[in-house]
Amino acid sequence: MQTLREIIKDAQLHNVAVGHFNISDLAALKGIFDAAYALKQPVIIGVSEGERDFIGIKQVVALIKSLREEFSIIDGSASGGNFPIFLNADHTHSFGKIKEAVEAGFDAVLFDAGKENIEENIRETKEVVNFVKEYNQKNNCDVLVEGELGYIGSGSVILDRIPEGVSVKKEDLTKPEDAKRFIEETGIDLLAPALGTLHGMFLDASDPNLDVERIKEIKSMIDIPMVLHGASGVSNEQLKLAVLAGVSIVHINTELRTAWKRGLDLALLSRPNEIVPYKILPEVVHEVEKVVSDKIKILSGV
Ligand code: G3H
Ligand code: ZN
Repeated sequence: MQTLREIIKDAQLHNVAVGHFNISDLAALKGIFDAAYALKQPVIIGVSEGERDFIGIKQVVALIKSLREEFSIIDGSASGGNFPIFLNADHTHSFGKIKEAVEAGFDAVLFDAGKENIEENIRETKEVVNFVKEYNQKNNCDVLVEGELGYIGSGSVILDRIPEGVSVKKEDLTKPEDAKRFIEETGIDLLAPALGTLHGMFLDASDPNLDVERIKEIKSMIDIPMVLHGASGVSNEQLKLAVLAGVSIVHINTELRTAWKRGLDLALLSRPNEIVPYKILPEVVHEVEKVVSDKIKILSGV
């Protein structure tokens, strides 16, 4: 089985992207897994600090591991197992929470000091990278570290305005020379720059400012894979352009939360007296699966 590092490298080489989808519960995980399994595509499951505290840190690790071990990407494989599903500790704001995720068995961590100035961001991110590299060496594993440069907001929610301090104007987006310096001085494996998207989405309008040219400019200066955050609300055409321009992982959460709720509303409204969770929740699974399936097709070109 390919490692997460190899899968992302492959995506980078072939100008496609791996989908990163957040979960808060088992119904969303089932929807995402069903979509990835049907399309035979690798997938990254993200859990923010809040999401993983709700599911349970050890429990989410066990869930992902069980799917990876039970299912195979090749139909009829005699051996079974090794489905490329991976777990990322999304938007982690403290060293302590990074340590907790790494020790629990996550495949990747995003240390997010994007709100800090670049000097402080470099200092804190470097500390995380040093810890993870030492952990990898001692434990013969390869946990990846993503660093965030620029602030793109915090909540995967429905927005009515651009939140305070979010970098969406051209002059506030991550500059290629800063990206290069950040990577060189921290030693991160993956870079999440501010590219004009933001966390969350507007109900009636698409995310306005994804800067495809900036992706190309940064890509020309760096070697490591780039991650696009805040992709909910970005049109499919823009997403395709972002992938062609050079992002290798794309994070989507708000659109999945919206699908999750739509599924629940549909089930409860159509059968108000139903109380059996496993008869209500398949509609949640189905709505999430549809969104993930569409996104994976766009990102991977299958
Ligand atoms: O890390 C999570 C993502 O960046 C989600 O952003 O809620 O706008 O899809 P989104
Ligand atoms: Zn994000």
